[in-house]
Amino acid sequence: PTADRVQDLLSRMTPEEKAGQLVQINVTSLMVGNGYTRGPLDPDKLGAVLGKAHVGSVLSGGGAAPVPNTPAAWAEMTNALQTYALNASPLHIPLLYGADGVHGHNNVLGATLFPHNIGLAASFDPVLAQQVATSTGVAMRATGVNWNFAPVADLGRDPRWGRFYETFGEDPSLVAAMVAAQIRGFQASPLTGVAATVKHFIGYGQAPDGTDRAPATVSASTLKALMLPPFQAAIDAGAASVMVNSGSLNGEPVHASPQLLSGLLRDDLNFGGITISDWDDVDRLKSVYRVASSDQDAVKQAVVAGIDVMMVPTRADDYSVIVAQLARAGTLSTARLDQAAGRVLALKFRLGLFEHPFVNASEAAARVVNRDLAYRAASASMTLLKNSESGGGPLLPLSARTPRVLVVGPAANDARFQLGGWSVDWQGVPAGVNVPAVTVLAGLRANPPGGVSVTYQDGSRPADLQQAARNADVIVSVLGEQPGAEGKADSPALALSADDLARVQLLHTLGKPVVTVLLAGRPLDLRSVLPASDAFLMAYLPGSEGGRAVADALWGARNPSGRLPFSWPARPDALPSTLASPSSVPPLFAFGSGLSYTQFSERALDINAAARRASVTVSNVGPRAGQHTVLAYDGSGAARHLVAVGTVRLEKGETKTVALTWLPAAK
Ligand code: IFM
Repeated sequence: PTADRVQDLLSRMTPEEKAGQLVQINVTSLMVGNGYTRGPLDPDKLGAVLGKAHVGSVLSGGGAAPVPNTPAAWAEMTNALQTYALNASPLHIPLLYGADGVHGHNNVLGATLFPHNIGLAASFDPVLAQQVATSTGVAMRATGVNWNFAPVADLGRDPRWGRFYETFGEDPSLVAAMVAAQIRGFQASPLTGVAATVKHFIGYGQAPDGTDRAPATVSASTLKALMLPPFQAAIDAGAASVMVNSGSLNGEPVHASPQLLSGLLRDDLNFGGITISDWDDVDRLKSVYRVASSDQDAVKQAVVAGIDVMMVPTRADDYSVIVAQLARAGTLSTARLDQAAGRVLALKFRLGLFEHPFVNASEAAARVVNRDLAYRAASASMTLLKNSESGGGPLLPLSARTPRVLVVGPAANDARFQLGGWSVDWQGVPAGVNVPAVTVLAGLRANPPGGVSVTYQDGSRPADLQQAARNADVIVSVLGEQPGAEGKADSPALALSADDLARVQLLHTLGKPVVTVLLAGRPLDLRSVLPASDAFLMAYLPGSEGGRAVADALWGARNPSGRLPFSWPARPDALPSTLASPSSVPPLFAFGSGLSYTQFSERALDINAAARRASVTVSNVGPRAGQHTVLAYDGSGAARHLVAVGTVRLEKGETKTVALTWLPAAK
């Protein structure tokens, strides 16, 4: 058994060798050049870091990739690292290699990118989330990446937070179900999947003004009722690792909190896997939080509190030297050192890395592509929020009734907007880099209904736009948020760009029906947009096949069925605005909103909370086939909460009774 193999290894390792297992460095520290200047692996650095300092795991921080950034080059790079590590280590210990595969194997150029979690959540479909995660795990492992820093289990309660789109929304039961499904997907197979990391424990993204990594104050009851259920569900689903919140919770930096990392996580939630710090966060105990007096003190506090692996020390080999010194001096107990190193070794055994450290580079390219699933996931996320009458019926779906379609806006013709952050680079696809993706414009041009023509204007020249609009029957106005990630993506005003807003106003004066499509990872301020739109489709950050999914929704080739996984605030100053913490200003769109081109009626809802069972009879009473997601709530008023979900596809006139899935964390 694994435990015996771990014990056997530990008994033969020096404190220095064990200490190396507690450290993870960015692969760029092993390359020629500095920082993000990438180059081939550097033999001197390999010798110092993997050889001398025995470092046991490597990561690609968002954007750190081999040159060229191809699946085969990734496989060759990780194979080279494994070869070096196995030869350099006296006991032939392989490496863990981590990366953020948050919507597919998104560091690899050419890999299929799925919708970001906020869109996936709109499907309310954990089975779909699991399929996406399985596919992501296979893609990562095929390139030699065996540890995924996903899924995010933080709640998306404040859309101003720059990482809102990485969450599954505001509802703890839905987040728990999606996160547990993703853990099962990533870890579907020890040899062809990846170890999952549920992150960021705990209280991340809960700063009162939506600022990333700002201190959070959360009451014990809110923590228990809202924040812990997704982590508990992930741990129950077998999450191999937990990443720790960079911020402070109730005045205490989480990285130095024995109460949170040992008491709550280990004793209460019963977590037995690896805890990993976030980037450089052990150093921040000294440099930012000033609770540690030196590097040694920071490392000691973090490891004693419960951090097993420290991600990215300031200097690549520092921390393994420090850990070994602390252990030799008796400041860090052998028991704690063995526990942390043992957990890392156990994962390496469980992933089969001792027996199968290498991957087949010639197979990697095929494994990172799964466009059909990306289309299905993007399609399931499309959320229709407005569809006014126009010329004797609802404006959507578009048809030969409005034969000349004018598509407007740069976001329609630039995949960066639909891919969002964590796409090739953490801040989004770098300028000048081409990624394979179907844009909204390409999707609409590919398959219009008979008799419909599609033209395009980016909108930068108002006179051209006005001229083109005169010859159009309907305008599809695509608005988009610039991609971004932590550090750069907080948005205090939830504002669209000035260009987008100006274009919205101009289009409004032209007297043509306007369909607005929003490519964004959060509910932006729509006060001037919605009144100027006859129809409104929330497309989130739908990934590689986003354009096809948007087009099929607008043409009615697929009837939209997404439902909002968050409450859409009426205004940026009316926050929080969630089911659990309602604002005095009613939301613009309530949690769960989402229209269809048909109508459904729900009857005979039967909830048996004691037996965790619910069913409902649904009829399609509208004009066409469609898929309907049932959201079942229990309680009333502020105590109302989601307990079960289910999806049913019904032909026109059809009725079915649906057994709903009881959400794992629901009361
Ligand atoms: O996994 C991420 C984390 O979510 C944010 N900081 C960097 C880590 C590694 O890229």
